[in-house]
Amino acid sequence: MIKTALTELLGIQHPIALAGMGGGTSPELVAAVSNAGGIGIMGATDVEAEKLPGLMAAIREKTDRPFGMNLLLHGADEDQIREVLEARPAVLSTAWSRDDQDLAEIFDRAHDRGLKVMHMVPTAADASKAANAGADVIVAQGTDGGGHIGLVGTVVVVPSVIKEVAPLPVLAAGGIADGRGLAAMLALGAAGVLIGTRFLATTESPLHEAFKKLIVESDGTDTIVTDIADILMGTEWPGALERIARNRIVERWLGRTNELRRRREEVLPAMRKARGQGDGDEAILYWGQTAALIDEVVPAGQVIEQMVAEAEVILRERLPRLVAG
Ligand SMILES: Cc1cc2nc3c(=O)[nH]c(=O)nc-3n(C[C@H](O)[C@H](O)[C@H](O)COP(=O)(O)O)c2cc1C
Repeated sequence: MIKTALTELLGIQHPIALAGMGGGTSPELVAAVSNAGGIGIMGATDVEAEKLPGLMAAIREKTDRPFGMNLLLHGADEDQIREVLEARPAVLSTAWSRDDQDLAEIFDRAHDRGLKVMHMVPTAADASKAANAGADVIVAQGTDGGGHIGLVGTVVVVPSVIKEVAPLPVLAAGGIADGRGLAAMLALGAAGVLIGTRFLATTESPLHEAFKKLIVESDGTDTIVTDIADILMGTEWPGALERIARNRIVERWLGRTNELRRRREEVLPAMRKARGQGDGDEAILYWGQTAALIDEVVPAGQVIEQMVAEAEVILRERLPRLVAG
């Protein structure tokens, strides 16, 4: 067992969180992570407010352990925030707020209902803002990760954020897929890890099976950091780029963003169709560099079990031997 400030705060067994990935999480995956002793978090930004109570009920049918709900603050509306808070999951997980948003007001309302607040940031300055607004846990996210990211690598951003917000617990995100990553982040001072890509390639993940296979086959060098996906979706992110697979659709539009803006209405439906059909050439696919470390699709509980066992051996045996004598 690895006990940290995170396991104590949330009353969970292992210091491992499932990232609340939009399109990459489902009640099955969230419950699998929570049932295995981590904290499952459901990506909720793309879910209409009126569907949120049913979604949380579906998670509660599969687990009686703590779980969280994730909202990307720049894209979430007041009705979504209200529905999440009213259902009182253990954790409100947030990220990517706009500068004009009042974080303290949102975090206070979460606290009034007994939720803990976990806010993800790409810089120490953003961490400081979230800590001052009352977040209980800060997630420091580095550029190795999949999805929307900042500009600083995980090994640098994690200690920078820890220094900024100590003694608040900090989770490391971006580039962690196994027990070596967990042990390394604990060594940097993190209270645990938040993981996206590794959990995409699990049995319970809602990702199309063809895309899980692509992650397993990837050597981790086939991603690109770009804004092409947001231009295609027509979304404005406050200060983020996205790490996505560098496949045929991305290659086609690189350097042609003005034309892509003009032809969105034609390209977007075709891309969505390709995604539904599991077409790995023509779908926009978000994943991180840990695809290099993922060799098979396994149940999420197995990922957690192996990760903790491997980290324990490193922390108990391999590292202490280095300093003995
Ligand atoms: C497919 C995908 C979707 C994501 N969607 C969200 C999201 O909706 N909200 C969020 O806070 N983070 C989202 N992220 C980022 C994750 O929270 C996390 O920071 C990242 O996955 C960590 O890096 P890793 O993929 O190397 O584990 C997403 C990541 C991926 C891969």
